[in-house]
Amino acid sequence: MKIAVLASGRGSNFESIAKAVKSGKISGEIAVLIVDRKNIGAIERAEKLGVNWIYVDPYGYSSREDYDRKIVSILKHLQVDLVCLAGYMRIVSEVFIESFPNKIMNIHPALLPSFPGLKPHEKAIKYGVKVTGATVHFVDNGIDTGSIIVQAVVPVSPQDTSSSLSQKVLELEHRIYPQAVKWFVDGRIEIKGRSVIVKNANY
Ligand code: GRF
Repeated sequence: MKIAVLASGRGSNFESIAKAVKSGKISGEIAVLIVDRKNIGAIERAEKLGVNWIYVDPYGYSSREDYDRKIVSILKHLQVDLVCLAGYMRIVSEVFIESFPNKIMNIHPALLPSFPGLKPHEKAIKYGVKVTGATVHFVDNGIDTGSIIVQAVVPVSPQDTSSSLSQKVLELEHRIYPQAVKWFVDGRIEIKGRSVIVKNANY
């Protein structure tokens, strides 16, 4: 099974998936890391891990669709089976989604459907929720609206700031994203309408 990761920044989620692949926990290979920005942590991590990476310059394309067509052509050429968005700061177009139906995952650092989009930790603190968490979901046409695969929860304490919360949630992210990828690779994910059913899941 060939996995591609798309990232725009630090790349810690990319690394958690790549390491799970390297250790054999996930039986597949990382075909490529695609980035839309240069000089980012994700590239450094890819080089350390010996993962092939490609920078696709967004300014070279006149529309989101054209940009996504280029990315899809790279992914198809590499025969990628699963695409993982990991801190990828672009909204993927219909062109992309239709090319990989139910094969694009994303991680969001909140308990969806609460706090989609940007600054979820700030929103969670401002709202006063007592728990927050992380969500891995399939990508559909909306922003953070696709079917949920797995979630994990952490308490919010009165002392928490968005930075302390993001640290706590990141630990959950590094646990559940590789887990969701493993389920997919092992053929344990079934989609029924909006629901994702994981066969023999040990929650
Ligand atoms: C993570 O919190 C992820 O959930 C969000 O952006 C952050 C990316 O972190 N979408 P990293 O680049 O994986 O370290």
